[in-house]
Amino acid sequence: MTVVEPSPSPIVLDSIAEVREASRRARAAGQTIGLVPTMGALHEGHARLIDACRARCDHVVVSIYVNPTQFGPGEDLDRYPRTLEADLAICRERGVDVVFAPKDREMYPQGTIATKIEVGAAGTILEGAIRPGHFQGVATVVLKLFGIVVPDRAYFGRKDFQQQLIIRKMVDDLNVPVLIEVVPTVRERDGLALSSRNRFLDPEDREAATVLFWALERAKSVVKRGERNAERVAEVLAETIEAESRATLDYAVVVDAETLETKPTIVDPARSAALVAARFGAVRLIDNTLLA
Ligand code: PAF
Repeated sequence: MTVVEPSPSPIVLDSIAEVREASRRARAAGQTIGLVPTMGALHEGHARLIDACRARCDHVVVSIYVNPTQFGPGEDLDRYPRTLEADLAICRERGVDVVFAPKDREMYPQGTIATKIEVGAAGTILEGAIRPGHFQGVATVVLKLFGIVVPDRAYFGRKDFQQQLIIRKMVDDLNVPVLIEVVPTVRERDGLALSSRNRFLDPEDREAATVLFWALERAKSVVKRGERNAERVAEVLAETIEAESRATLDYAVVVDAETLETKPTIVDPARSAALVAARFGAVRLIDNTLLA
């Protein structure tokens, strides 16, 4: 790795050609390129992704793009927080070199594109069952970003468990020459996983939402005490969340951490994940943990 000083402030680019040119120059100078794909509304969780990228890569690119193709009808595309100035301040603090903040017309000049990434069964369950087409939209825009930035490494949060798994599978299946780095979930002091959607929780729901973390902790502790029946552990998750009157449970499952398959027995807790999703008022939150 070449030792380079991070830029004092990021260059904000909205054109694909300019981002490509910045990457070309970085590569010609012998620099490694890292990408942190985001939809903006950056928080400490994103900051950790950027820090991980900054620690390994010479040329750090953060994309900020609320990708319409991963939102279904009636989802919160219009309500999704857009906080570019605050996002740029975080990027500046963390030594980001380039922020790529394209408009829709740059990413989808015809409004749509014909080629889409088919993500298979992992994209049709859990989040994919509730949000049909979501992961196709995610995988397609991520592959576009890879084609634009041409990174050596790209950084994703474990918080979006299904997303990181689908992206890793896409890169593997299609031999995309990018190393995917998965960064642990960042939590508030009371356990709530950081999410751009947390800002929409009213104070009572904000407090109630910590039940997701406690449900995951309880599941982990019953597994630690020797429970290996996956259905029983999923029941512990569901019972804990349903005991919170402000929570409406969407799902609580125990799955294979590499395939998302449900199996009756937990053979290896380190390869098993508990995944939960629940609504608090109009805000839908997800969380997860490995069971070891
Ligand atoms: O996790 C996100 O913010 C988005 O799904 C991503 C990966 C930036 C694609 O739009």
